[in-house]
Amino acid sequence: MPNQKPLNIGLIGYGFMGRTHSNGYKRVNDFFPELAYRPVLKAVCGRTAEKTQEFADQWQYESIETDWRKLIARDDIDAVDICTPNNSHAEIAIAAAEAGKMILCEKPLALNPEEGERMIAAVEKAGVANTVWYNYRRVPAVSLAKQLIDEGRLGRIFHYRANFLQDWTINEDLPQGGAALWRLDAKAAGSGVTGDLLAHCIDTAVWLNGSITDVSAMTETFVKERMHNETGKMEPVTIDDACAFLCHFGNGSLGLFESTRYARGHKALYTFEINGEHASIRWDLHDLHRLEYFDHADDSIVRGWRSVHCTDGDMPYMDKWWVPGLQIGYEHTFVHQVADFLKSVETGEPCNPTFRDAQETQQVCDAVLESARTRQWKNVG
Ligand SMILES: NC(=O)c1ccc[n+]([C@@H]2O[C@H](COP(=O)([O-])OP(=O)(O)OC[C@H]3O[C@@H](n4cnc5c(N)ncnc54)[C@H](O)[C@@H]3O)[C@@H](O)[C@H]2O)c1
Repeated sequence: MPNQKPLNIGLIGYGFMGRTHSNGYKRVNDFFPELAYRPVLKAVCGRTAEKTQEFADQWQYESIETDWRKLIARDDIDAVDICTPNNSHAEIAIAAAEAGKMILCEKPLALNPEEGERMIAAVEKAGVANTVWYNYRRVPAVSLAKQLIDEGRLGRIFHYRANFLQDWTINEDLPQGGAALWRLDAKAAGSGVTGDLLAHCIDTAVWLNGSITDVSAMTETFVKERMHNETGKMEPVTIDDACAFLCHFGNGSLGLFESTRYARGHKALYTFEINGEHASIRWDLHDLHRLEYFDHADDSIVRGWRSVHCTDGDMPYMDKWWVPGLQIGYEHTFVHQVADFLKSVETGEPCNPTFRDAQETQQVCDAVLESARTRQWKNVG
């Protein structure tokens, strides 16, 4: 559409997420031509000019900044995209809201619920559009799970279980902290697998199955000391390497969640299963275009788990892509979130999860960490 309105993006942080989001901005109008807005890659901000310029050249950003405050102060930026480590989300988001910018913030929303509250207050006071990149909501199979649950096909839900398993920190010689390994330093990350991985599982769970009311958790730090990249010294490891928790949902169902970076053989195995009165659902990130579904209403002689290949045009988002049978992948979830955000700017409706929605995950993470610390059940919020 030639008369699409430009929406000028200012990207802060050009690492892993900076790339996925940039790809989303670049692709979105090709596949969602009906959108009234077109993202323009106006500026990218990093800390060193040379590397930031390299990224800008590669991804065709029009300009660079090396101080995020300058990016936020620019009149030609409409939306600020926060792709920096977790300990900078609150400061950047609050400043961006005060400058009247729309905000797309990476997950987890903040280091803790207190920061989250201040971020919510800032965006709501400024009245600016805001969203948090819990992108797994926008895997077509996961969106389909939401549709099936909302249609009542599962009936009463009894169980929700989720895992997020990795194995990349088993080596005890791996250092912690600094630009590459900020995830292993609680000062930068807030927590370990709880805020990094379980936050995704919790966001999806709350979206699909409603609020979590209370939790009982255990965490473990298997390697107690690692060399810190900033000091060059061996220092205590402050993050949780593994976390498992039980919970109750408000709808009466029971939850079971586990995450670790010590599950040898697993790189990013995010799975969930939901068991309802009439039907069950299972999903696996490694096979993300499939939704497994068991329906007790099926004729008993053919009853069994079906593996639904989520590629037909009547599946969520799939009418935008190829022909039935041809699947899409990880990067498309970010294209979908950009599309939904642009649509929300057009309609004035919120783009889920908003900061306020994402705060619920923050509160569950906080309760999980507190429960593990005190070895007690903990209420959420
Ligand atoms: N949605 C998802 O699935 C997903 C996946 C990975 C990471 N994340 C989140 O995205 C965020 C970034 O993670 P990542 O994996 O892209 O990290 P990364 O380390 O790959 O990139 C972080 C970037 O931020 C930059 N940066 C750091 N401090 C800065 C500052 N003060 N000013 C400007 N730039 C600064 C770094 O130079 C780097 O380019 C984190 O909050 C993380 O939790 C989300």
